[in-house]
Amino acid sequence: MNAMSNKASFNQNPGQQNHGHQNHGHQKRGARSAALKQRDQARSFMVIALTVLMAISALLWLHNSPASAQVSGADKPVAGATPGGTDSGASSDAELWRQIRHGVTGTVVGHNKSAGLLIQSDGQQWRLTRNGPLAMYSAWAILGTLLLLSLFFALRGRIRISHGKSGKTMKRFSGIERMGHWLLASSFILLALTGLNLLFGRKLLIPLIGKDAFSTITIFGKFIHNYVAFAFMLGLVIVAILWLVHNIPNRHDVVWLLRGGGMLGGGHPKARKFNAGQKIIFWVVILCGISISMSGWALMNPFTTTMFGDTFSSLNDAFGTQLPTDVALIQEQQYQSLWHTIMAVFMIMVVLAHIYIGTIGMEGALDAMTSGDVDTNWAKEHHSLWVEEVQAGKKGTAETGKESIQPAE
Ligand code: HEM
Repeated sequence: MNAMSNKASFNQNPGQQNHGHQNHGHQKRGARSAALKQRDQARSFMVIALTVLMAISALLWLHNSPASAQVSGADKPVAGATPGGTDSGASSDAELWRQIRHGVTGTVVGHNKSAGLLIQSDGQQWRLTRNGPLAMYSAWAILGTLLLLSLFFALRGRIRISHGKSGKTMKRFSGIERMGHWLLASSFILLALTGLNLLFGRKLLIPLIGKDAFSTITIFGKFIHNYVAFAFMLGLVIVAILWLVHNIPNRHDVVWLLRGGGMLGGGHPKARKFNAGQKIIFWVVILCGISISMSGWALMNPFTTTMFGDTFSSLNDAFGTQLPTDVALIQEQQYQSLWHTIMAVFMIMVVLAHIYIGTIGMEGALDAMTSGDVDTNWAKEHHSLWVEEVQAGKKGTAETGKESIQPAE
């Protein structure tokens, strides 16, 4: 206020001074200052008009710009809706995702039909079963078998040849029979060791040998497992062809089983080339061997087989069961993996018992699979009917050597 009043007084003073000295000049100057005043007013008006114009255009631009569309009026996102009404991203369709999480299968137009399944939640159950109860029961089953065999050995001791060795031998298995047996046996042992490493290796070996060594062993073991499987299948075929006829059950087997293979009632029950105990081992090896080979094949060729779906549907037809027949390809793999392990563990238990009786459990048995010749007293005690058949020249092969039994002419 002071400044303004000072300025006003300043403007007034010079005017008063001019008026006092030159009248004509005073009039001229008054006209010029009026013109200047008018020009300033016009300038101010122009500036104000331009500013207002710019402000209006800025407001109009803001209103029409895309950015303003997101934040203004009815297009503003409300309660999960997206601008333009698209349903991607912003909306949370809990029910849809719940169904996907629980394995609902969509339609696939392309070649890969299994892509219709985004999340296969049974996989979680499979993993928990495989690493939990399956691994635990498998360990107990194998350790339990070893424990029982040790107990049996402690109580019963080695089964001796009652009459001692005679010194005479007879041919029990030919070269091809032994070759088939050892092909089957050696491949099975490799498969069992490399397979058990897959089931228990992480827990048992990593703490002992470390991750790097375990990784090397496991990669190598996987190759052995995959390739040796074919040797096992070949051994299985050879053994099946050679011994099937000798393993057809007969009435002597019932007696043999009732007498516990000789543990009850004293003496040795009669048997032909194979007794009931050996027949059980034979059929377990052949049937489980086929099953383990089929499941192994399915695991080697993932997503190409429908064995479980097909088996379930046959079982439903035969027994009226309600097993699931619409088995997704990935679920097939999971069933195959569990089944392969169950078969393997069962076979390992049976084969452990077999190895026990073929080695420390029974005197004179191993010779049958090494040289192929057995002591005649051993043969008469365990396979009396077979010895009679060989002597009668009906079945089996017989040695022609000095100390061997000759088949009757
Ligand atoms: C080190 C391991 C093994 C040993 C010492 C062994 C020993 C024997 C012996 C001595 C026999 C002849 C029994 C007789 O003269 O009556 C035999 C037979 C047989 N072996 Fe083995 N074996 C072994 C592993 C295997 C394996 C791994 C399998 C199958 C996976 C197998 C399957 C058979 C079958 C099916 C027979 C005929 C039935 C029987 O005698 O029980 N063996 N084995």
